[in-house]
Amino acid sequence: MSMLAVESLCIAFGGIRAVADVGFEVGEGELCALIGPNGAGKSTVLNAVSGLVRPDAGRVLFAGRDLTRTPAHRIAALGLARTFQNIALFDHASVIENVLVGRHRHRRSGVVADLLGLPAVKRAERDERDRARAALDSLGLGPQAERMVAELPWGLRKRVELARALASEPRLLLLDEPSAGLSDEERADMATAIERIRATGGPAMLLVEHDMGMVSRLADRAIALDRGRVIAQGPPQAVRKDPAVIEAWLGG
Ligand SMILES: Nc1ncnc2c1ncn2[C@@H]1O[C@H](COP(=O)(O)OP(=O)(O)OP(=O)(O)O)[C@@H](O)[C@H]1O
Ligand SMILES: [Mg+2]
Repeated sequence: MSMLAVESLCIAFGGIRAVADVGFEVGEGELCALIGPNGAGKSTVLNAVSGLVRPDAGRVLFAGRDLTRTPAHRIAALGLARTFQNIALFDHASVIENVLVGRHRHRRSGVVADLLGLPAVKRAERDERDRARAALDSLGLGPQAERMVAELPWGLRKRVELARALASEPRLLLLDEPSAGLSDEERADMATAIERIRATGGPAMLLVEHDMGMVSRLADRAIALDRGRVIAQGPPQAVRKDPAVIEAWLGG
């Protein structure tokens, strides 16, 4: 069974058909890249999968379950995590506090127990912090844990957002341009971080990425979109050479 199946997805904004009859699958443990020129519909597909945009037609199946009409917070609770093209972090909270937000779906105690500060709650809190720390350490962010997000350079913020997504221990991870705005060195670090996530039995991933070097290095498969439609899919090297893809890139 595939971890994600998108079927005949259609999304329009006013008169613009942002996504037109898009279908693809991401298998368990697979890393698929979603590529395409600016405005192709990549982020809109991610928004539909994570429940932030409601499709006009088509279906989104997560581990076989139809989530097309499920609200975003419930989809997250089922094990889907994501990062955003423009980063969505709490700037005036520390790095570790931001990552603790990612642990939210695993908290079991209720409001009353929290208010009473019961020992079990304290233990659970410690456990949560340990796990958040582990997520930070795994991305080399341990030393930044107590810093305010607002103080961090863009490259580190991109990594904090990835740590928060990972901390939720997702089954499916959506990454919207994790290397956008990074220097060559930061880009290489990000690719290594993503490789490490895979090597340690991480979640299935759908990666939106413009850097074709990174796509070829990381992805098992690539899905190319142009003007809301899938124009090619298959091994990254083959997709890259597909005439329709070359034309779309030149035309864009
Ligand atoms: N909320 C919205 N309201 C109106 N139009 C939108 C909205 N979101 C996206 N669009 C339009 O839908 C189309 C697809 O946008 P989308 O952001 O999905 O593209 P993208 O492939 O992620 O591009 P980029 O590489 O620039 O991030 C574009 O024409 C865009 O202007
Ligand atoms: Mg986008």
